[in-house]
Amino acid sequence: VNISVLVSGGGTNLQALIDKVESGELAGAEIVQVISSREGVFALERAAKAGIKGKVIKDTDGLLKALAEEDTDLVVLAGYMKVLEPPVIDAYRGRIINIHPSLIPKYCGKGFYGKRVHQAVLDGGETVSGATVHFVDEGVDTGEIILQREVPVEPGDTAETLAARVLKTEHVILAEGIKKVMETLPEKGGQ
Ligand code: GRF
Repeated sequence: VNISVLVSGGGTNLQALIDKVESGELAGAEIVQVISSREGVFALERAAKAGIKGKVIKDTDGLLKALAEEDTDLVVLAGYMKVLEPPVIDAYRGRIINIHPSLIPKYCGKGFYGKRVHQAVLDGGETVSGATVHFVDEGVDTGEIILQREVPVEPGDTAETLAARVLKTEHVILAEGIKKVMETLPEKGGQ
């Protein structure tokens, strides 16, 4: 299964996937490229170190072209900070997944990204947070849920300490979610 991973930042989720492909845990998966929405992010260094093609693409036509030229079967958003435009959703419906650092449908959607998610969880007085792997549709964090895992909120947690705890769980469930999806990938559309 050819996986294109879309990133925008540090790429710790990408690194978890690279490690799991290399360890054989994600057998049958190949990360064929890493596409970043921004230049100079560490995720691109991680790709280069792993010998994986890295590209910086900011426009929808360029993204569609890049996805097709590497014969992408599955698109994985891993810390990707842009909303995909409808043409991309249409071309890869049912084959785009995202990792979100909360228990969707709580604390997700527009405005809830990065540390803001965790601050909102703390402000909401939650004792449990978590991470979610879900399909991507036209909305923001609104697609069908594939996998969720709870993470405890500890007394005295800050957005940073909670984020770090949730991130560890993201790294685990993203690979598990990909394994689950790989078993039932729909046939490729007219590409
Ligand atoms: C993190 O906030 C993570 O929760 C979310 O994207 C951000 C960066 O992740 N999925 P990464 O380290 O770039 O994978």
